[in-house]
Amino acid sequence: MERLKSKDLLDTDLLTKEEILLIINTAFKFKEGGIKNLPLTGEVVSLLFFEPSTRTRNSFEIAGRRLGAIVISMDTTGSSLVKGESALNTVRTLQVMGVNYFVIRHRESGFPYQIAEKVSASIINAGDGTRGHPTQALLDAMTIIEAKENIEGKKLVIVGDIIHSRVARSNIWLLKKLGADITLVGPPEFLPKDFEKFGVEISYSLDDVIKDTDILMGLRIQRERMEKMHISVEEYVKRYQINRERVKRGKPDLIVLHPGPVNVGIEMTEDILYSEISLVERQVTNGVFIRMAILSLLKETRDGSNT
Ligand code: CP
Repeated sequence: MERLKSKDLLDTDLLTKEEILLIINTAFKFKEGGIKNLPLTGEVVSLLFFEPSTRTRNSFEIAGRRLGAIVISMDTTGSSLVKGESALNTVRTLQVMGVNYFVIRHRESGFPYQIAEKVSASIINAGDGTRGHPTQALLDAMTIIEAKENIEGKKLVIVGDIIHSRVARSNIWLLKKLGADITLVGPPEFLPKDFEKFGVEISYSLDDVIKDTDILMGLRIQRERMEKMHISVEEYVKRYQINRERVKRGKPDLIVLHPGPVNVGIEMTEDILYSEISLVERQVTNGVFIRMAILSLLKETRDGSNT
């Protein structure tokens, strides 16, 4: 396996295990060996974020620049979108200016798929609604492999607002392909039983599962959503917060991840976030290398289909 099959990176359910490992191993090469050439010289990457982002947007910008690309970042509130131009028209307009890669975050699930089939440029999904966030799942897998060497047979617990989480879905698809044994944990309002269709276990008690857990991944909780779901913040903290007391009951080599942004004091305490078992900042660092890997591998795929 030397190349990704598709011109686009839409989600982890569309990647084979070999493609996932190709991306992660390429990211490790960038991390270990630096950059020996600038494979994206002459390429243009557009960052099209219709929702806020700190990590994904800035790491794609750094990744593109490190590879030699021109990176442009459109202010979606200050463009002709506000005059009624459609998002597809915007993408096609930028494409004829020479943009080859669009990194898109949009509130609508499935939005990058609709664009991908209508343009020749590569579309990279940077988060679509509640559906998926594939580059986050890839950097999570890289970080777990770096810490634990492999994922096969490891007990992974994802705790929090599962139903609204695009990170959870992309991680389930990816980490199951790499052999993880996944349990989803959260209040029933955030964790419908039909998630079992993904081949995962479900638990409503973090305390019941913590002692066997190798990898504990927290997810972001939104207070306004909790009000709609009739769960108080206090109740959530009591039952699901990743804190010193809970972690003490886990394995000695337990690691903790979170995609960020973290609501410090809700889904995780500050002492855990900045502790030796937390890989949250390492996830952010690895995000740059995963995004470099994706851009450089998509370039190879594009070059291959042009020969
Ligand atoms: N994890 C994540 O997607 O963070 P941002 O919203 O800051 O990009």
